[in-house]
Amino acid sequence: MSTTLLSALHLRLPIVQGPMAGADTPALAAAVSAAGALGMLACGMRSPEAMAEAVAEVRHRTGRPFGLNLFVQDTPTPDPAAVSAALERLAPLYRRFGLEPGVPARWCEDFGAQFEALLALRPAVASFTFGILDAAAVERLHAAGCYVIGTATTVAEALAWEAVGADALCASGAEAGGHRGTFLGDFASSMVSTLALVPACVDALRIPVIAAGALMDGRGIAAAQALGAQAVQMGTAFLACDESGIGAAYRQALHTATGTDTRTTRVFSGRPARGIVNAMMEQLAAAEDAVPDYPVQNALTGALRRAAAAAGDADYLSLWAGQGVGRARPMAAAALVELLEDEWRAARARLC
Ligand SMILES: Cc1cc2nc3c(=O)[nH]c(=O)nc-3n(C[C@H](O)[C@H](O)[C@H](O)COP(=O)(O)O)c2cc1C
Repeated sequence: MSTTLLSALHLRLPIVQGPMAGADTPALAAAVSAAGALGMLACGMRSPEAMAEAVAEVRHRTGRPFGLNLFVQDTPTPDPAAVSAALERLAPLYRRFGLEPGVPARWCEDFGAQFEALLALRPAVASFTFGILDAAAVERLHAAGCYVIGTATTVAEALAWEAVGADALCASGAEAGGHRGTFLGDFASSMVSTLALVPACVDALRIPVIAAGALMDGRGIAAAQALGAQAVQMGTAFLACDESGIGAAYRQALHTATGTDTRTTRVFSGRPARGIVNAMMEQLAAAEDAVPDYPVQNALTGALRRAAAAAGDADYLSLWAGQGVGRARPMAAAALVELLEDEWRAARARLC
């Protein structure tokens, strides 16, 4: 490894704001990047047009580098019987909001079109989760000037990303908020903690490792560096920032949750994801193994979750958050980055 992640990206601080589909905003990404860390925009659920719009807004707000993130996924062709069964299961929940569930216009955005849009937008960083690219796709990103980050939940996935030419690897521990990025092997055995996964990836790889999962303050950044990570990716910590896109009900749930209030579930989306336990998670728990795989269940619950958000009802939202949620601190993103820097320097000084 000839250059470090920080020098390659001209970053002052070893902090990446985790991309957060449905929760990050151009204002958040721009504020983080302007403060010397790396702002990210999750584009997994953005259309190519929405991606271009969001990127234009970030660029209008800051000239600093930032990144885009995509879900590597295929548009599914689900079994109609499985879709009917899933809709039937969801009907009582929809009726709470005066709605009937239906089949959505599309299961997910078209990954191919999103990938082409990303190439045309030429962000400094392109990061990916839920799957892996081939070497030719990584080469195209390099030709467009992008620094490529893959997400892994096991050492095998990390090695696969290195083999296709990724520039860095985000090692996502089981504590992390949001969806598991697992794409090889089964989800249960890929629930490896940050403390176990990060040094194992550092030892196995030649490319830089970014640590993710329950890192909430400057002590966490110093700890991740002690494990060999070159940077951290923080999601839940930035979710509580003023600039994040979440509504008041989600914000309140973040404010009151503790470290024992999160669980990993596939009932909202069909892919295991960590969030704050609520009524919807409990009511569908018996169907944990029966709900259709991502993105089908995600699309089938979308209108319900949007209705709950509009009604300010946190019981029927997906409240993605990591195990560090009890230490989330609401404030402006620039203030959080400054605080993280102070805490990180103090933690390093204590260790020395
Ligand atoms: C609300 C939410 C949405 C997320 N969406 C994405 C996403 O779209 N793409 C992605 O790669 N990671 C996503 N993540 C994971 C974060 O980028 C980050 O890796 C993770 O939050 C780190 O763990 P922490 O929450 O404990 O800090 C999401 C996390 C949260 C909390």
